[in-house]
Amino acid sequence: MDIREAYLNFFASKGHEIIPSAPLVPNDATLLFTNAGMVPFKSIFTGEVPRPTPPIRTSCQTCIRAGGKHNDLDNVGYTARHHTFFEMLGNFSFGEYFKKDAIAYAWEFVTQVLKLPKDRLYVTVHESDDEAFALWEQHIAKERIYRFGDHDNFWQMGDTGPCGPCSEIFYDQGGEHFNTPEDYMGGDGDRFLEIWNLVFMQYERSSDGKLTPLPKPSIDTGMGLERVTAIMEGKFSNYDSSLFMPLIEEVAKLCGKPYAYESGASYRVISDHIRSVTFLLAQGTTFDKEGRGYVLRRILRRAIRHGYLLGIREPFMYRLVDKVCELMGGHYAYLNEKKAAVKEQIRLEEERFLATIASGLELFESELARTKDIFSGKAAFKLYDTFGFPLDLTADMLREKGLKVDEAKFDELMSEQKARAKAAWKGSGDKSAKGDFKALLEKFGENKFSGYEELERTSRVLALLDEDFKETQILKAGEQGWAMFDVTPFYAQSGGQAGDSGEIEGVADVLDTQKFFGLNLSNVAVKKELKIGDTVKLKVSEQRAEIARHHSATHLLHAALRSVLGTHIAQAGSSVEASRLRFDFSHPKAVTAEELTKIENFVNSAIAESIAAKTEIMDIEEAKNSGAIALFGEKYADKVRVLSFGEVSKELCGGTHVANLSQIGAFFITKEGGVSAGVRRIEAVCSKAALNLAKAWRGEIEELKTELKSAEPMNAVKKLKAEIKSLKDKTKQAKDAHALAVVNVNETKLCVAVIDGGDIKATIDEFKNENEKAAILLVQVNEEGKIAMAAGVKNAPLKAGEWVKFTAQILGGNGGGKDDFATAGGKNVLAIEDAIRQALEFAKIKLEK
Ligand code: ALA
Repeated sequence: MDIREAYLNFFASKGHEIIPSAPLVPNDATLLFTNAGMVPFKSIFTGEVPRPTPPIRTSCQTCIRAGGKHNDLDNVGYTARHHTFFEMLGNFSFGEYFKKDAIAYAWEFVTQVLKLPKDRLYVTVHESDDEAFALWEQHIAKERIYRFGDHDNFWQMGDTGPCGPCSEIFYDQGGEHFNTPEDYMGGDGDRFLEIWNLVFMQYERSSDGKLTPLPKPSIDTGMGLERVTAIMEGKFSNYDSSLFMPLIEEVAKLCGKPYAYESGASYRVISDHIRSVTFLLAQGTTFDKEGRGYVLRRILRRAIRHGYLLGIREPFMYRLVDKVCELMGGHYAYLNEKKAAVKEQIRLEEERFLATIASGLELFESELARTKDIFSGKAAFKLYDTFGFPLDLTADMLREKGLKVDEAKFDELMSEQKARAKAAWKGSGDKSAKGDFKALLEKFGENKFSGYEELERTSRVLALLDEDFKETQILKAGEQGWAMFDVTPFYAQSGGQAGDSGEIEGVADVLDTQKFFGLNLSNVAVKKELKIGDTVKLKVSEQRAEIARHHSATHLLHAALRSVLGTHIAQAGSSVEASRLRFDFSHPKAVTAEELTKIENFVNSAIAESIAAKTEIMDIEEAKNSGAIALFGEKYADKVRVLSFGEVSKELCGGTHVANLSQIGAFFITKEGGVSAGVRRIEAVCSKAALNLAKAWRGEIEELKTELKSAEPMNAVKKLKAEIKSLKDKTKQAKDAHALAVVNVNETKLCVAVIDGGDIKATIDEFKNENEKAAILLVQVNEEGKIAMAAGVKNAPLKAGEWVKFTAQILGGNGGGKDDFATAGGKNVLAIEDAIRQALEFAKIKLEK
């Protein structure tokens, strides 16, 4: 049985709409990851967003619990049930049915679809919930219904958010298999396994801990796919099921050692973690020093270390990605699309960590030998800082030895280093959540955007908000606030495109336009009073045309990247303004200069083809099937806008664009660089901004010509460089001469030395110039191994000719010259040391006379 299908179809047959899994990174600053099936629906539960039709839904949601309130990371591998990544089946009612139906549906599914034997089932309710108890009694004997307190039967999403009492269904795995003293209902043993949690959502918890009733009592349920699969397959551990065994077997192949359950924690850790890592990377999260990217890094490093324990000493995690895609790509098609890029990112990260893991483990072992009960926080910090061991990895290693780490000390050192890694994502509360948007949405619905077709129109002011987003009747001259028009040509910032500015003719400047819960609101600075109900003339600024050009150029850039670098390129973010564009994309290494040229050429050729834009409104599925590029994680409505430029580019996009590519003019890439591991950023300009850039370049060249006093600045620069080089060489010779070891004999400065580079004669002249009485002999070996030698003497009783002759003999050569300067050659390089020593002696004897 395909359990996912069976579940979704069962609830569809009860009128629920099937919703695809939302991204693992939620659109919610209070959560690290989507940690339950209800997360994507949070604002429907709280009433911030109106109820959908139908108001009942079902989904199979991918979840990660590796931080925050629900954090399972530490347990993974050591228990039969914990995972960082898992899939949660759920059915949801937004103020429609409540306890009675939720209980009846759950019972029907468990007993009639899954056909689990009733004599193995138990349920729990909150100790205060007589209603749920009575409802369950209609299905199951009351001896099988247990009451527990808040710890077991109250569920909440996070520290804040929707919550409520819950009721759980348990499956008895059999006393014959599990018979520890903890194997009773409510005990810590494994015999009684919770398979489904029905949450009776009734409250929202705010940050001060207070519970406020939700607008309507609702239902949120969650059934872990991994547990149910294991039960249906008669396995006592999720890891023994068909969801994990193929991965575990793959690990066994990679390390060359067979898997056994009792000693197999490392295999299980790896088989779990590779799923989190693959899904997160495929959805665009990248390895990072902080926030979610750091959690991703922690998960991978924990797995690498377990691979290390299994004896693996080279990158291996990336090799497991194929298996994950094979097992799950059928349900999550994007895994297959992103496979190549995901593997490459993992491999690079593995190399990074493997480079330091051995030294880190050495430090760990030596510190461990010194540890009595608490492992030093300083050592843990060093492991983190120098060797890339996340704290929970160190803690994990210590746990195996029954030890703990001095976390307080670690934290202290960490905060000394600004604690960037820890706090980054916290507290990024959503300012807009304070506003009166809900009321406006209920009163007027979403206001219409007319700016695809027109840049001016007469509209009515539907609503006004002050700077704190509180509704007001009027904005007076000098005040700023937000205006909602019945129909507006102003584009609200989204999809990377900047919001429009412009004016309300004669009344106010429009500074910016933003979207809040679907409402298009313009930020206005009022010059002459603005009231609700006013009929006004709206004008979008000329900037818009330039924004449109940069937006269309961004689509061309995206197409160029896919054509030049490969289809693994996925957009990771973009920003489109009137004078520049920025595009972030996944790619494992820097883009070369040659590739950049190709990319720039691709875009400019497309512009030259003068292709007209075509926009179509399609069903989301139809659009995807037509090959239009969609962004993962972007929330698309059922009907989407598809923008294409001939065969060159086809993307889902709600932004504003040129009517014809020729309007873009020219396109220049201005910068390429890295944003984080595996993500590159290109900045570029087009149209007026490109023209301005070219003008600036020309200005600089003219300035150069003046500065260099040359019509050919390039030649002038080359000449200057050659001059600089020769000056540098001369300086070096002078320095070499100074650096020689010099002795004083009878007031004469004496120097005998071998020099590497430079001109011997010039160095000797320099030395003679600098000293009143001088004797110097220099030896140099040229590239063919021949020895050159020269000597110079000034105001001293030593003849240069004799001196070089004597020395050259030792080197198997000959030479001579005048008393003040002489040269010689030699062959015997091995004798140089001896020759130098004897030349020095020879000179000393003469000078000491
Ligand atoms: N949201 C509930 C849970 O995760 C169903 O257990």
